[in-house]
Formats: sequence, C-alpha cells, structure tokens
Amino acid sequence: MNNSTIVSRAPAHVPRFVRFPRLYRPADDTWLLTDAVLDEVANSERTLTVLELCAGTGYIAVSAARAGADVTALDINPRAVTNTRFNAFLNRGRVTAAVADVRDLPSLPRFDLIVANPPYVPSAAEDPQTGAALAYNGGADGRALIDPVCERAADLLTPGGSLLLVQSEVNDVDRTCDLLRRTGVVPSVVMQRSIPFGPLMSARSAILESRGLIGSGQCTERISVIRGLLPAESDSGVDQLGTGATSDDFPVDQESSR
Ligand SMILES: C[S@@+](CC[C@H](N)C(=O)[O-])C[C@H]1O[C@@H](n2cnc3c(N)ncnc32)[C@H](O)[C@@H]1O
Repeated sequence: MNNSTIVSRAPAHVPRFVRFPRLYRPADDTWLLTDAVLDEVANSERTLTVLELCAGTGYIAVSAARAGADVTALDINPRAVTNTRFNAFLNRGRVTAAVADVRDLPSLPRFDLIVANPPYVPSAAEDPQTGAALAYNGGADGRALIDPVCERAADLLTPGGSLLLVQSEVNDVDRTCDLLRRTGVVPSVVMQRSIPFGPLMSARSAILESRGLIGSGQCTERISVIRGLLPAESDSGVDQLGTGATSDDFPVDQESSR
C-alpha cells in the first residue's frame, strides 16, 4: 500500500504490522495493555469473546485474535477500522471490525473481556476532535472517553467477565475505580509503568500544570492498566499489581504520539 507506514520494529505480538497515516502509533500504553490482554486470554481455559473499543490500528485486537480469542474491534474512525481489518488479514487473525462511537454504542452482545486504550490527553475546547487528534484529545480532564467506557462496561460484560482499560495518572485512576465500583464492577490496578512525556504532553505541560493535573516541572507520567471484574454470583474482586510488561521503542512522531 502506498499511503501506509510500516513500523520498522514491530514487537512480536503482531509480526506484520501496518499503520495507516494519522492513526495512533502503538506506544507504551498499547503494549502494556496488550500484555494484560494476553495474560487474560492465556489464563482462560476457553475461547474468550473480546470487545476492543478505540481499536486504532488493531494492534491489540489482532494480538488477542492471534492468541485464540474471538475478537470484535470498534473505532469511530473508518480508517482505523480498515487498518484493523488489514492487520488482521496480514496476521491471519480473525477480527470483526466496525465503526462505532463509544459514547453512543449500538446494541451489542455481552463479552468476556472488554479492552480500551481511549484518547486521554487533556485538551482544550478549541483543540481539534477530528483526524489525527481523535487518537489523543480526551477533553478538559482527559476523561471524555474514559467515563463512557466505565459507565457501559457492566452492561457489556458477561458475569465473571472483565474490563481492561489503560490510562494516565493525569486522568485520576481513583476516579475510574470509583466509577466502576458504582456500577458493580470491582476494580484493581494490574499493571503500571512510568514513561516520559511524549511531544504532546510536553507541549501541554504548562497548561496541565496550571490546571493542577500535573506537578511543577513534572515530565513523566505513570500509566496504569485497570482491571474491572464484573463478579459472577460466587466471585469477589482480587487486587494485584503485576509488572510483567515489555516495551519497545517505536520512533515518535507528532501526529500520533501523546
Ligand atoms: C489512543 S488511540 C488507541 C489505538 C489502539 N487501541 C492502541 O492502543 O494503539 C485511541 C483510538 O480511539 C479512537 N476514538 C476516539 N474517539 C472515539 C469514540 N468516540 N468512539 C470510538 N473510538 C474513538 C481513535 O480513533 C483512536 O483510534
């Protein structure tokens, strides 16, 4: 394909990976979440049904499909849906991909696992919400998409199923946990990593500091994978903090990095 970017050092999860222009370049948050998803798939004795919201290039969806899950991937951007289908085809992973807005989801069946790496960089009202910006601008506190994912999770999960969501400390992890608890979903932080600010976070650091979202001179952020368990009747939540994630170093570009 002429107008696509082939990432030179794709991690082993997705051996043949293509990213269409102006889509989110898989980064530390993608890989941390992928590791959490693959743990969940590997620890299940049966084929899991997985719903990925905000799928982008389909990196996570294809990884899960390659690991044996039955995956549905949704994104608001039609180019992301095409890119997901293309990566699924290249890697012989079966993924059903479709356009959908997390804030207004169509009627869906329940899934064993819901996965999301939503846009979460705090943005201003005048910042764009189209094109490449769709991948990162998350509203004033970065929660414009985190909240709808949390609010819908309980309705979309099978009893005993779980949500895996990645976000930054900048977006308030406790708030996510509180929101999940209110809907009967039991939260726990299962993976964390501290990463340096990308170009976008660096460019916005003065504004973020003035809003009290980061500390003075802060230039790193902790990203967390939050697991939300919808208890089956006999289940209870388990807290754990894992550190088994791996990271690779894709080159950074302004258009698609946080
Ligand atoms: C940070 S990227 C994550 C991409 C991919 N899952 C990953 O981890 O590399 C966020 C994705 O959310 C999508 N998105 C933004 N707003 C959305 C919405 N309202 N509904 C569904 N998807 C949305 C963007 O198009 C983008 O592909």
